[in-house]
Amino acid sequence: MLEIKYFPHNLNVENKKLVVRVDLNVPLKGREIQDSTRIEQALPFLQDLIKRKAKITLISHLGRPNGMRDNTLSLLPIYKYLKRKLSTNMYFYTGEINDEIKIKSSYLKGGEVLLIENIRFFKEETENDEKFSKKLGELGEIYINNAFSCSHRKQSSIHNITKFVKEIYAGPLLKKEIIAIDSVIKNKKDPVTCIIGGSKVSTKINIIFNLMKSADNIIIVGAMANNFLVYKKYEIGKSLKEENSDEVVEKILNEAEEKECKIVIPDDCLVSKSFEGVAVSKNIRSIEKDDIILDIGPDTIKIIEEIIDNSNTVMWNGPAGYFENKNFASGTNAIAQKISDNTKKKSLISVLGGGDTISAINNSGIDLSLLTYQQQEVRF
Ligand code: 3PG
Ligand code: MG
Repeated sequence: MLEIKYFPHNLNVENKKLVVRVDLNVPLKGREIQDSTRIEQALPFLQDLIKRKAKITLISHLGRPNGMRDNTLSLLPIYKYLKRKLSTNMYFYTGEINDEIKIKSSYLKGGEVLLIENIRFFKEETENDEKFSKKLGELGEIYINNAFSCSHRKQSSIHNITKFVKEIYAGPLLKKEIIAIDSVIKNKKDPVTCIIGGSKVSTKINIIFNLMKSADNIIIVGAMANNFLVYKKYEIGKSLKEENSDEVVEKILNEAEEKECKIVIPDDCLVSKSFEGVAVSKNIRSIEKDDIILDIGPDTIKIIEEIIDNSNTVMWNGPAGYFENKNFASGTNAIAQKISDNTKKKSLISVLGGGDTISAINNSGIDLSLLTYQQQEVRF
């Protein structure tokens, strides 16, 4: 296995040019940050580098703007937040990735920070474009990846950039999460249950395939479950669904049978006629054409609680419903509560994944640290 070089604590970074890839992909409502956990987690390392007088160019993405400028996905609110928290001169760069940024970043004094606008506004980022990666690489003598949650992406600021900087390191957040995953893999106890939510089954298919090798149960919740319901010929009304997902679902179900892994999908759900509406509980067989499925129902919650009670390791990625409307947060809250209770009671090993999951749990009022194995948070 490739050895990971961690950023050495004592490295002299005074007046050195650092490019730091962070994950500031936080949920926004308009210009308001809904959950700042990810930014807060990125702060200590940045504060340390500032104190040690490094010249820092920061790169992050926000959402998936598909290579186009989209004001609703500007990092501006995050820049303002960071500027308040970091006591140094901080600049925001909204131009192209060309000589101008090179010049601007060369003006940085030791301890100052330049944040580049959402790097996914450039299509070259997601294309992992060599030239673009080179230009990003030229902004620093040292590159540090401190963004575990996007490290699986083959994109310029994560992948190809590493060809163009001499010194490259994994930052402390990456280290923390790798150690956490390692310890879960070493210590996991059967039965293992994975709860997967969120919306897109196609982006998680590889994760699901990998998990099936060692999991006893995979519980599918959130909008992702709708694809399974459609495959099983249930009506889902106007609920979110991915195009052409049948093939992916079939692959998962076949593989699960072979690996003797039980796939659990919702039996009932909470629906409404709109995202802002109130919840009506319905069996999965009685969804109407104008219903939108927005959460799992009480019977499904009971089934999931029972499975968690009978598990010794639980991994969870993605909320169970549209928790942003509190009428549809009960599934997510119930899962968070059950994992939290069992983690305290019988030292259940639990792993949490994804920015949405973290903000859903913060939203539920449950202490995040109670849910995580050895106080670690892991994203997958
Ligand atoms: C996340 O929230 O999962 C990370 O920020 C990565 O985002 P992505 O899934 O759009 O690459
Ligand atoms: Mg993701």
